[in-house]
Amino acid sequence: MKLRTIDNIDVRGKFVLLRDDFNVQIVDGKITDPFRIEQSMPTINALRNAGARVAIVAHRGRPKGERNMEYSLKPIAEYMGVDLMTDCLDKEFLGSMQDGDLVLLENVRFYAGEEKNDPAFAESLARGFDIFVNDAFAVSHRAHASTVGVAEILPSYAGQLLASEIEHLSEVMENPKRPLLSIVAGSKVSTKIGVLKALAKLSDTLIIGGALGTTFNYAVGGKVGNSLYEADQKDTALEILDYAKANNCQVLLPLDKGVAKEFARDAVRVNKDFTEIEDDDIIIDAGELTTQRDVEAIKNAATVIWNGTVGMAEWQPIWSYGSFALANAIAEQTRAGKLNSIVGGGDTVAALEACGVKNDITYVSTGGGAFLEFIEGRILPGVAILEDK
Ligand code: 3PG
Repeated sequence: MKLRTIDNIDVRGKFVLLRDDFNVQIVDGKITDPFRIEQSMPTINALRNAGARVAIVAHRGRPKGERNMEYSLKPIAEYMGVDLMTDCLDKEFLGSMQDGDLVLLENVRFYAGEEKNDPAFAESLARGFDIFVNDAFAVSHRAHASTVGVAEILPSYAGQLLASEIEHLSEVMENPKRPLLSIVAGSKVSTKIGVLKALAKLSDTLIIGGALGTTFNYAVGGKVGNSLYEADQKDTALEILDYAKANNCQVLLPLDKGVAKEFARDAVRVNKDFTEIEDDDIIIDAGELTTQRDVEAIKNAATVIWNGTVGMAEWQPIWSYGSFALANAIAEQTRAGKLNSIVGGGDTVAALEACGVKNDITYVSTGGGAFLEFIEGRILPGVAILEDK
């Protein structure tokens, strides 16, 4: 897909409405991981250096069309050192902007018209601007006013981050170096059916882990104790296994698990295989045998696509064992030049960061839902509208 990019346009003196995804976690007023903000900086800097007058439109959380200050972008404005305009529809500030200036507009989801892609709201948002630039790959699977509506009104372009996401993800989907290993984990089969099928079709080997893996283990008759799994997804899980087989994809399900008697960070960890799990056991992480086998699979792969942690990676060090082992193996192989690695999804990227290996991965996507939908082969409306036809 060829996109209209900002590379060859003259933005000097122009008012640019820039869509970024700053939907980051904030705990006690502090940004836990500024990755999405940092990845947005090259486009922001390129526009400013070229003399544009830039206003960033962004969202945080799901305030449901109400002005709920819990979801204010104030901590982000402070982090970036820019002024926050308290109402995204109030354009008075445009009159005092100089070339190269930058402001951040308050959460666009404070208006119900945003998520409805209401044409009148999009019109008000676009008013006063000359150009729209979308750099928010992570929200481009949503057909909202700030991703699609304004792009229908203003001359619109892809920012550097969005273009880079599409380039890297398209490359791995269209022309992966083989053997291709995909690792899909996380909590719910129901949210990952599409991506599991797409990757079962594309990959040589598919590792299914985390609570997702537990559901598959349950589906094939394994004991799962008192763990998180989806009993109602049994048939779907079996269908995915058949689909993978029909597409010559080898599926690796968990062999054993790290379990405890309580779901707690400091719970006592015991390693059990699926015949040993008792009714009151809770699965919290991948087991040792599973992890060793998965590390071997990583060593044999030329490409790895990874989404979803295989345990409670944030409960370090006891329950991060499985996810960190995968992260370290992927990083090691990538550093050695033997592996092309692609990782996406908030929890997975946070695990890479906690493990200190984020910079060793070939490509880390800023997308969560958008990453999954892209891999699934779905059209992202916020991207499609930027296509250079
Ligand atoms: C994300 O964090 O994945 C994006 O910002 C999209 O957020 P949403 O799922 O609330 O639309």
